Amino acid sequence: MTHTPLPPSLAPVPSGRVALVTGANVGIGRVTAIELARAGYQVVIAGRSLERTQPVLDEIKRLVPGKPAVFVPLNLASLASVRECAQQFIGMNLPLHLLVNNAGIAGMRGLTTDGFEMMFGVNHIGHFMLTQLLLPLLQASGPSRVVTVSSRAHKRTPGLDWDAVRQPTRSITGVREYAVSKLANLLFSAELARRLQGTQVSCYSLHPGVVDTEIWRALPSWTRPLLRWRGLLTPEEGARTSLHCALHAPHSESGLYYSACKPVRPSALGQDLDLARALWERSEAWISGR
Ligand SMILES: NC(=O)c1ccc[n+]([C@@H]2O[C@H](COP(=O)([O-])OP(=O)(O)OC[C@H]3O[C@@H](n4cnc5c(N)ncnc54)[C@H](OP(=O)(O)O)[C@@H]3O)[C@@H](O)[C@H]2O)c1
Repeated sequence: MTHTPLPPSLAPVPSGRVALVTGANVGIGRVTAIELARAGYQVVIAGRSLERTQPVLDEIKRLVPGKPAVFVPLNLASLASVRECAQQFIGMNLPLHLLVNNAGIAGMRGLTTDGFEMMFGVNHIGHFMLTQLLLPLLQASGPSRVVTVSSRAHKRTPGLDWDAVRQPTRSITGVREYAVSKLANLLFSAELARRLQGTQVSCYSLHPGVVDTEIWRALPSWTRPLLRWRGLLTPEEGARTSLHCALHAPHSESGLYYSACKPVRPSALGQDLDLARALWERSEAWISGR
């Protein structure tokens, strides 16, 4: 697939800046990685398959000769893989100025290797652990940013059930569990920002829009006409808010949730500080095997 560059020219970033993007072989992540490379970042792509990421690495090489993107293996459904990914990145002896927690699944069912509901495990727990392991590097490289791709779907859950996130996917469509995982993305980003107040690391979460990507492949086929009827953005349009948070959002807006390139109010649960703290503490305990 050939990349259609985004029209607004992104201000070039200072030289030597490094970005790590998860899940950038397709969809929103692919455009995000390419545009970050065009803006001047040295891009590292973390994903499940070098073979499937190679076309993006080739595209970046073609568009930005002299600054090749690098691949590191990452399967967010396995905490051992998350640990290896972080170790491999740290072993590269690069700084880290931008972490984009982009990878995600919808409608995939079951449990992750470590016993989390599949979407909660991949979308939240894997990224929670990756961010924790890379935090010392992000802090040492400041000013730096953590951008976490959440979703407006976070509004579709009435709460966080601590037992359900440790059990296989139960709902027929998986929409309920997806909503929980995206609420967790949002709460994680807000709590991370609170914990990093006074540092040079800023954190943003966002809804990219409803975007025509492969994420919908696991949803029942009857849901797709509904999505198309609502109008889908292209991946280029869908990457705009991620890129805005990565490149332009001010430090003073750290912790906020964005949509259409501006801060918007999340659901009431998305603003619940106690819930964000509880999720953080449980996630911390879970990844350390407690
Ligand atoms: N599309 C939308 O309308 C929409 C709306 C709201 C939010 N979002 C969010 O946007 C983000 C990007 O999604 P997208 O729409 O661009 O979907 P996509 O085209 O399906 O891309 C998802 C990416 O995540 C990767 N991924 C999946 N499981 C993984 C795992 N276990 N470990 C590592 N990487 C994994 C995929 O890699 P593989 O090729 O290996 O599967 C792929 O690179 C997600 O967080 C999603 O929740 C999307």
